[in-house]
Amino acid sequence: MKITVLNGSPKGDQSVTMQYVHFLQKKFPQHELKIVNITHRINKFEKDEQAFQEVITEVASSDGVLWAFPLYVMLVAAGYKRFIELIWERKAQEAFKDKYAAIIATSIHFYDHTALNYIHGICDDLNMKYVDAFSAEMLDLTREPQRQKFLLFAENYFDAIEHARPTFKAYPPVNAQSFTYTPGSSETRIDAGNKKVIIVADIEDEQSNLAKMVARVQQAFSGKAEIHNLRQLDMKGGCLGCIRCGYDNTCVWEGKDEYIDFYRNTVQTADILIFAGNIHDRYLSSRWKMFFDRSFFNGHVPTLGGKQIGWILSGPLSQLANLRQILEAYTELQPANLVDIVSDECADSSQIDARLEALAANLVRLTEKQYVMPTTYLGVGGAKIFRDGIWGRMRIVFQADYKYYKAHGAFDDFPQKDYVGRLLALVVPPLLKIPAFRKRVYTQEMIPGMLRPYKKVLEQVS
Ligand SMILES: Cc1cc2nc3c(=O)[nH]c(=O)nc-3n(C[C@H](O)[C@H](O)[C@H](O)COP(=O)(O)O)c2cc1C
Repeated sequence: MKITVLNGSPKGDQSVTMQYVHFLQKKFPQHELKIVNITHRINKFEKDEQAFQEVITEVASSDGVLWAFPLYVMLVAAGYKRFIELIWERKAQEAFKDKYAAIIATSIHFYDHTALNYIHGICDDLNMKYVDAFSAEMLDLTREPQRQKFLLFAENYFDAIEHARPTFKAYPPVNAQSFTYTPGSSETRIDAGNKKVIIVADIEDEQSNLAKMVARVQQAFSGKAEIHNLRQLDMKGGCLGCIRCGYDNTCVWEGKDEYIDFYRNTVQTADILIFAGNIHDRYLSSRWKMFFDRSFFNGHVPTLGGKQIGWILSGPLSQLANLRQILEAYTELQPANLVDIVSDECADSSQIDARLEALAANLVRLTEKQYVMPTTYLGVGGAKIFRDGIWGRMRIVFQADYKYYKAHGAFDDFPQKDYVGRLLALVVPPLLKIPAFRKRVYTQEMIPGMLRPYKKVLEQVS
């Protein structure tokens, strides 16, 4: 059978992900796995409709499609995202209909689930027959047990095609309603004092709800709130995945376009950041994705710590829990404070006005208090994955990260320096083997013991 492999790596043939595909090509010579470099050639597909059409023809003549990609900032790379947008813009959906689909993703398992959810949703939108996903840690192919799992995954996929097994959708279609927002005039204006307010938006159409919401929120401030439109920002291309930034955060794009200067001197210097964009398919635009991917020149170092962040979206946010989670996680990892995400889906202009005014007021109020919400699993879990990676093998190339993490105490709890806890963990477990001791600990000591540290704190509250 013939499978078209859509390669999502900007590195093209030099991709780690493609090594997984080459492994399958060797193990299943009876099947043709035809690799098409998508992200690497996105500029070509953008400009040359014929070249894009050739890919679509490949897809149409296949028995299945493998979405094979590296994780890029909780999703796929910007170029891959752009390719997905082109499928709809150029009305090529029909070629994907009823094709058996599966995902091969490689990553360090940092928000791999949000990327898988996204592509799975896209498969459902394209009416494909989605079978399964294999999310590999980069080096899994070098580990025998993981290789075995990978083979079972592939066998299952080929078997599903061979036996025309039924598949079922996981994601209902996203229904965007049409509504025209008519902003009212602002009654009161908020004074942000000496705080710098920056609005970064991807405004594709000046008459759109998004453009009007952005203008409305700008008016809510009595002082300066600069709008920067990502459409007008000179970004010559996406992240190339070359990792040359790993050594000292110097990007190969440095001096070649405006992005790095904009990120360092405008975005990073703001106290209040308002990000705004249209929802495209199940995420934001590929332009926004390029913005996030390019910020990777900072490696795994958080760059927006302590800022107040608000999002303004046009589109059906409440139907896209995955997108909300990505935005929440992105903020928590800084850690910054996500004040609100305002969308136009309530389809009520006065309500949108009220929410935008409240957003502006809350951003200012919380920046004065320097409030940053406590991190949840999204931030805590993500930071631990980075910490483990940078402490380990990633340190070899991500030298700048390692220096930053060391200087900022990121390794201080790793291994844990809780010496009392470590001593107790050494002494108590052997004693627990004694039945009488064990009984006493579990029935009398444990629960009061857990409360002991709080007792002291509460006693001191005046
Ligand atoms: C710009 C950029 C963003 C990345 N974002 C993520 C991420 O969000 N989660 C993750 O687990 N790995 C992330 N990675 C790591 C890659 O997914 C991983 O190295 C992958 O195996 C590369 O595959 P490739 O060689 O096929 O491009 C990122 C790498 C780059 C360069």
